[in-house]
Amino acid sequence: MTHLNIADVDYFLPDGRQLLSGVSFRVGNGAKTALIGPNGTGKTTLLRIIAGDVVADEGAVTRSGTLGVMRQFVGQVRDESTVRDLLLSVSPARIRDAALALDTAENAMIERDEESTQMKYSHALADWADVGGYETEDFWDKVTTAALGVPYDRAKWRAANSLSGGEQKRLVLEALFAGPDDALLLDEPDNYLDVPGKRWLEKTISESSKVVLFVSHDRELIANAATHIVTLEPGISGATSWTHGAGLASYHQAREDRNARFEELRRRWDEEHAKLRALVLRLREKAKFNDGVAARYHASQTRLAKFEEAGPPEAIPLQQ
Ligand SMILES: Nc1ncnc2c1ncn2[C@@H]1O[C@H](COP(=O)(O)OP(=O)(O)OP(=O)(O)O)[C@@H](O)[C@H]1O
Ligand SMILES: [Mg+2]
Repeated sequence: MTHLNIADVDYFLPDGRQLLSGVSFRVGNGAKTALIGPNGTGKTTLLRIIAGDVVADEGAVTRSGTLGVMRQFVGQVRDESTVRDLLLSVSPARIRDAALALDTAENAMIERDEESTQMKYSHALADWADVGGYETEDFWDKVTTAALGVPYDRAKWRAANSLSGGEQKRLVLEALFAGPDDALLLDEPDNYLDVPGKRWLEKTISESSKVVLFVSHDRELIANAATHIVTLEPGISGATSWTHGAGLASYHQAREDRNARFEELRRRWDEEHAKLRALVLRLREKAKFNDGVAARYHASQTRLAKFEEAGPPEAIPLQQ
């Protein structure tokens, strides 16, 4: 069984600002989980922590099964990379490594066509075959045909930046969903997709047997594809997480109930606080005239200090 477990993750930005505070949730059992929250709350950073690109300051990420990752920049590729590079970027490490070795050996042979470079090239080709490179190319042929309408042989050297944002996304999504990974992390997969593309994505996420964690700002995609919703809520000392174990249809009611509970807790805290302060003042006055009250006065001061130190219940999350 595939799962991702995020436990008590804290993360601080280089400038010392706390971005994530005690973020915890679990994704498993074929769940399709949407990760939502306002711009800049740390969704991309959290996905990068889960993917292992960034190390959390506290907490742990554990998982079972293999992970495929689509990063937020897909759709905005501006560099020299090709369609093949884009497909390699979402391939298992053994495929990426073998492809790199093959390119290096090929370039060396073009520069100096002699026995030693030819030998290295034929070794690299054999390694490519061993890791399943040719099967992968057959698979990529299906992917480029589905995403771009052309076979892999015609698409592979095309500059990725000559594809539209939507075509780049579609290519990577086709490769990930049809590929071997058990769990997928998708950062704004719907970005740049047109309406038919979004419908395709909703259906693909819903029907996939993989565990999917996706970031989105698109209500419809969340409504039609998410079985669970994790909200990152900005707070003074970093964003906290809140998990809704169902889809968007019941989300708003759950959120209102939760906010109402917070309001109730906060109201009780304020009442208790006022009572404790009144008690301290009363005992202070009494202690002026009665030495026997001094110990009770000090005890009440300690209680108030502890109460204030523990602080009020978590702030009411901002409405989005
Ligand atoms: N290396 C860094 N140095 C300084 N600040 C950073 C760094 N990386 C991220 N940030 C800041 O951390 C915050 C969270 O960024 P992140 O990209 O995770 O947000 P997000 O929730 O994905 O936002 P969006 O919805 O816009 O994609 C932002 O304020 C960003 O400017
Ligand atoms: Mg982001």
